[in-house]
Amino acid sequence: MKILVTGGLGYIGSHTVVELVNAGYTPVVIDNLSESDIEVKDRIEKIIGKEIIFEKVEMCHKEEMVAMFKKHPEIKGVIHFAAYLIVNESVNDPLKYYYNNLVSTIYLLEVMQEFNVPSIVFSSSCTVYGNPEELPVSENAPIQPAVSPYGNTKKMGEEILRDTAHAKDINVISLRYFNPIGAHESSIIGEFQDGPPHHLVPYITETARGLRQELKIFGNDWNTSDGTCVRDYIHVVDVAKAHISAVERLINNKIEHNFEVFNLGMGVGVSVLEMVNAFREATGISIKYSFAPRREGDVEAVYADTTKANSTLNWKTEKTLTDAMRDAWNWEQALMNEQKN
Ligand code: UFG
Repeated sequence: MKILVTGGLGYIGSHTVVELVNAGYTPVVIDNLSESDIEVKDRIEKIIGKEIIFEKVEMCHKEEMVAMFKKHPEIKGVIHFAAYLIVNESVNDPLKYYYNNLVSTIYLLEVMQEFNVPSIVFSSSCTVYGNPEELPVSENAPIQPAVSPYGNTKKMGEEILRDTAHAKDINVISLRYFNPIGAHESSIIGEFQDGPPHHLVPYITETARGLRQELKIFGNDWNTSDGTCVRDYIHVVDVAKAHISAVERLINNKIEHNFEVFNLGMGVGVSVLEMVNAFREATGISIKYSFAPRREGDVEAVYADTTKANSTLNWKTEKTLTDAMRDAWNWEQALMNEQKN
């Protein structure tokens, strides 16, 4: 069975393509290559030992989507990752984000209806909860005004999907990711950086590698156990596997509502300082750090109540924080060796 994966050469997309193949599906990978490299296709193929179907498609050009669906009439479901995701950039260039992330989703939904493909898994984010009043945060927590245009595209994306599911023959599972980290255990795919990293763990691994003198920790005066921000870090392969559970729930008609939402996290809050310690425990490397002022837009603490995903999606995380740190470091070293050669 063919499953369309939009943005399938990106960080979470590429790991999900591998898991789809492992689960016996045939992914049809589309990507416009704006934020990813075609070389990731070769890397995925190296892991799975066979070729994958790839089409370069600009999702904001509807005719390209129509042509792709015509070419692959066996597509039975969609996993929609394709989106811009750099928070700062979205603040400075909101229209780029609203146009790309929302128009692509609207066209996708239109074309899915045209081709009678009813199932879609959407890549959402814990950003929709803002600074939650209660922790751990469950799917019933109120949605807060978005802090950034990027976050707003996730909130609006969910609304577009919910309203469409309500009105049309479309079934949606929206997966709200907390903080995906780590890399495939083969070190063949991981999070690619074009310029400075956008997330904490690549900053830690680049500091360990000597590319940076030290990690700057944004704030030590938060109201948390050690004063640094708390997040729910989850191994990217566990995130990828949740997509297979979601696809199966949709295509086997197990859904109870045609718009369902699940948190994807480990369910544990970890501070930035605890992350630095976890990296040391996993790799034996102590990185240098210093405290810097709070970063604008950061929330103090957010971690997931994963009860619903565990019971309803029949999914549980299998990897530990130590696994994630080890895999992130192995990936950084693999990149370093490639760059040397
Ligand atoms: N941090 C540092 N130093 C750094 C980088 C990050 O101290 O150099 C801290 C941040 O302040 C934060 C934590 O590490 O407390 C995690 O930061 P990330 O940038 O890795 O992740 P965020 O939690 O800020 O971002 C995540 C997702 C976004 C999403 C956002 C909203 O990656 O896509 O949550 O909750 F929009």
